[in-house]
Amino acid sequence: RRLDTRTVRDYIRTIVDFPHEGILFRDVTTLFADARGFRMAVDQLLTPYAGEPIDKVIGLEARGFILGGAVAHQLSVGFVPIRKKGKLPGSVISQAYALEYGEAVMEMHDDALRPGDRVLIVDDLLATGGTAVAGISLCERLGARIVGCTFVIELPELGGRKALESLGHEVNALTAFEGA
Ligand code: PRP
Ligand code: MG
Repeated sequence: RRLDTRTVRDYIRTIVDFPHEGILFRDVTTLFADARGFRMAVDQLLTPYAGEPIDKVIGLEARGFILGGAVAHQLSVGFVPIRKKGKLPGSVISQAYALEYGEAVMEMHDDALRPGDRVLIVDDLLATGGTAVAGISLCERLGARIVGCTFVIELPELGGRKALESLGHEVNALTAFEGA
């Protein structure tokens, strides 16, 4: 039997012209669907933080839930969702962020974190960083400390890494695609 040498990147499918003409959509469903690919992705998302205390994993809706839930389970810590406006049932704090066209709002339950909690932020993709920056600020507003922000994919041309690093946050991304 031949050793399987595929990397996380090899399981990501590119869909041309989705959702608009001229966009190369990096599709992680093919990564999630593969037993070996998904296992590698989850392991590599948390590898840089081995030995560091983490109190909660934060997942950004929607694909960050799939990864963040698995990461939290692996670390045996709790999971906290950051959701799009209007989805969470309890009392929330809200943060607006910029989209390609217009603005959106992310929310987190206002009792989801405690001051001093050390949190790891998880999402599938870092593009402009707008979503992650909104997530970070929600966590910081509750007094949490960001241990790191970890993504499967980064699109370096869109500047997300620079945005997070200039705010003093560490970024881990498993693979980068140029020509976003
Ligand atoms: C995508 C992706 C990230 C975000 C990255 O989510 O899953 O969460 O965009 O972009 P940014 O760095 O420019 O903010 P999307 O808003 O499409 O929603 P979904 O995850 O619910 O599909
Ligand atoms: Mg998303």
